[in-house]
Amino acid sequence: MHLKSAALWLLLNQAQVSCANPLQLEKRALATSDPFYPSPWMDPEAIGWEEAYQKAKDFVSQLTLLEKVNLTTGTGWETEQCVGNVGAIPRLGLRSLCMHDSPVGVRGADYSSVFPSGQTTAATWSRSLFYKRGFAMGEEAKGKGVNVLLGPVAGPLGRAPAAGRNWEGFSPDPVLTGAGVAESSKGIQDAGVVACVKHFIGNEQEHFRVAGEAKDYGFSISESLSSNIDDKTMHELYLWPFADAVRAGVGSVMCSYQQINNSYGCQNSKLMNNLLKNELGFQGFVMSDWQAQHTGAASAAAGLDMSMPGDTAFNTGRSYWGANLTAAVLNGTVPEWRVDDMAMRIMAAIFKVGQPVKQDPINFSFWSQAAFGPVHWRAKQGYQQINGHVDVRGNHGTLIREVAAKGTVLLKNSNGILPLRNPKFVVAVGEDAGPNPLGPNSCGDRGCNAGTLALGWGSGTANFPYLVTPDAALQARAIRDGTRYESILSNYATSQIQSLVSQDNVTAIVFVNSDSGESYINVEGNMGDRNNLTLWKNGDDLIKTVAARCSNTIVVIHSPGPVIVTDWYTNPNITAIIWAGFPGQESGNSIVDILYGDSSPGRSPFSWGATRESYGVDVMYKPNNGQDAPQQDFSEGNFIDYRYFDKANSSLIYEFGYGLSYTTFDYGNLKVQKENVSTYQATSGVTAAAPTFGNMSRNPGSYLLPNDFQPVYLYVYSYLNSTDLKAASTDRDFGKTAAEFLPHGANDGSGQPLLRSAGKHSPGGNAQLYENMYTITADITNTGRIAGDEIPQLYVSLGGPTDPRIVLRGFDRLHIEPGKTVQFKASLTRRDLSNWDPAIQDWVVSSYPKTVYVGRSSRKLELSAKLT
Ligand code: NOJ
Repeated sequence: MHLKSAALWLLLNQAQVSCANPLQLEKRALATSDPFYPSPWMDPEAIGWEEAYQKAKDFVSQLTLLEKVNLTTGTGWETEQCVGNVGAIPRLGLRSLCMHDSPVGVRGADYSSVFPSGQTTAATWSRSLFYKRGFAMGEEAKGKGVNVLLGPVAGPLGRAPAAGRNWEGFSPDPVLTGAGVAESSKGIQDAGVVACVKHFIGNEQEHFRVAGEAKDYGFSISESLSSNIDDKTMHELYLWPFADAVRAGVGSVMCSYQQINNSYGCQNSKLMNNLLKNELGFQGFVMSDWQAQHTGAASAAAGLDMSMPGDTAFNTGRSYWGANLTAAVLNGTVPEWRVDDMAMRIMAAIFKVGQPVKQDPINFSFWSQAAFGPVHWRAKQGYQQINGHVDVRGNHGTLIREVAAKGTVLLKNSNGILPLRNPKFVVAVGEDAGPNPLGPNSCGDRGCNAGTLALGWGSGTANFPYLVTPDAALQARAIRDGTRYESILSNYATSQIQSLVSQDNVTAIVFVNSDSGESYINVEGNMGDRNNLTLWKNGDDLIKTVAARCSNTIVVIHSPGPVIVTDWYTNPNITAIIWAGFPGQESGNSIVDILYGDSSPGRSPFSWGATRESYGVDVMYKPNNGQDAPQQDFSEGNFIDYRYFDKANSSLIYEFGYGLSYTTFDYGNLKVQKENVSTYQATSGVTAAAPTFGNMSRNPGSYLLPNDFQPVYLYVYSYLNSTDLKAASTDRDFGKTAAEFLPHGANDGSGQPLLRSAGKHSPGGNAQLYENMYTITADITNTGRIAGDEIPQLYVSLGGPTDPRIVLRGFDRLHIEPGKTVQFKASLTRRDLSNWDPAIQDWVVSSYPKTVYVGRSSRKLELSAKLT
């Protein structure tokens, strides 16, 4: 068969779905994804993985094929205690490994913490807080028996501000997100849990991520949305933070639901084989998002290593892998080295973070908080203790409060109205200041917006052990200070609000919000993605009502990104505006810390436009390709967020990197030191041939379900049910030879050429990309009267006609005492100064003149120098 592209080939070979309508294929030329085979195998000399490789080799060499397949395939939805588990290897004492959400805490568990969202954390611009939060979350996951924590998030990056899950990630800037995911991964893994950076890649909106879900919002499509991303944009924007996570040693990557250039994320060989495993030299394992797998042998060949949660659709009891993978290896469709490599990658990640073969038990169940219950939840089998109610919180509340406060952004502060100094009478207004009357955890996966909003909704959540409301914290502070305090926790009690805030001496603090989340929950008509960027629950009117009667109105916004403030932000009665993101369990305490000046605020990790349209790109809410896969062309290229506003030369309300401080800073003494770097050498050479580990029986009889074995209902096993491999398989195309079934080269286990941009044993890509070409320093002086944190930002203009005006390349958070000067220091690596050249497939420093800037935001660039 002549294959025009693997993407089309894979599309036509979907196990579940019909082919795309040929008329529509004719109608528009669909973006395609190039094939890249075979799937790269682990490198025993990869830096940081050497010891883990040897341990994995010792372990995997002892395994039977069935045991290797067990490691690769989930046991099915609700069949074990975590959101995903793989098969155990009891013979060697390895229990079922637990893959579990979320990027803010242990999802569904009790006695664990809710951390601030990734986006709020990004607003601290503090690498050390990124790390500490990751470490604390890793400790909690470990304490519950989680082996792989499903976070941090680098996709969505934040292409469209309304996209539902932006808050789970960090920032639409790849450098800030790269630092976020790298430090979080290091923290999580130093605490002994494998991190899983997700969703790889282009998962930039909720609508149409899963074709089946679209029915819930009224559309019938046969295939999921395709994010069509060109090679340059892929490298310079979306892949960038994943490269940072790989370089930091992340142990796993989750491939995404939607298609990329018309090939599903979890069977896209260009992405997994080429970009991730070859170019970036990723040594860990790729797991599918939950039911993002659509093929068996094809996804194995394309680089998928673990099927999650293992069943074809929730609770079918069938799997693309499991017994099908056993059969596919036995009949030669999937080479033995490929399944060995999957097992190696999974176990190497486990050993890399210091986990032993004999693991502590999993001591909670995602499916129930009761102490006793069925360990196999769906089957209601195996009654035992499933929840030890183990308290894993330690003193993380203190860190959560600190991160949330330092990630709160002061957007407006007229006449130094903040910080509050012994105010006479504080009035809090709005539902968002108070509790959810039904309790903070009353809606599953936080799928409602009631009371103060401290988290969005979806799988990226956890149960609150408590939630300090702004009302409770403000009142406590008022009592301590002898301040008079009242609150009205409603957005609609207009006359009561009017009469209260009209009194003398009132400092009115209005709490408003906007919510978003994951598309399997509909909250007030929002299918994950926000329907608009305006405030929910009459928020704008509430603000105007208060500001009309009170000349000292402070607005606090809890939201998953920018909201439209255009109507009221210049109102002189609105003296201060604060963005408090999604702060997690210490919400009230952290906002009090900022309002009263006990902590220093952060800077906005995204831009605030005057209108929704001003962002240039948006979520696609209606399919644009008939019933076939909606086509989302990322034709804006690199130009999202500030890069777009700069290109359009449009004004902003608050720019990327902006935020006020309670003190003042001067910038000076910019110095650029050129470092001696070697000339860039393209990587060359060939890998060793694909190894296999241990001996495998070729006799199908040795893979049968043992006679005395009692299978758990709906549980996915790797056993065959017949020695007739065709009968044992549930694969419709079973029995085709590898050559007929898989794209050219998929089964080639001979040594493979290294890509020129790839690292030689160095995860993250060619090591020279990370060489320091320039060291930049500047002096930052606190010219005010109180100590405070300044966040100097380093931007570069790459100078080419198609380059953004500036791109962020460095930042730091510096605590500076009044009158003192602290040096800001950052380096510019070769990658920082390069563009991706699609023709030569490598990073290249162009000859265009380059300028560095150091400033306090993307539009306040006080210092600059030309690079020579
Ligand atoms: C789907 C989500 O996209 C992913 O982020 C999550 O980890 C899995 N579900 C498991 O809950």
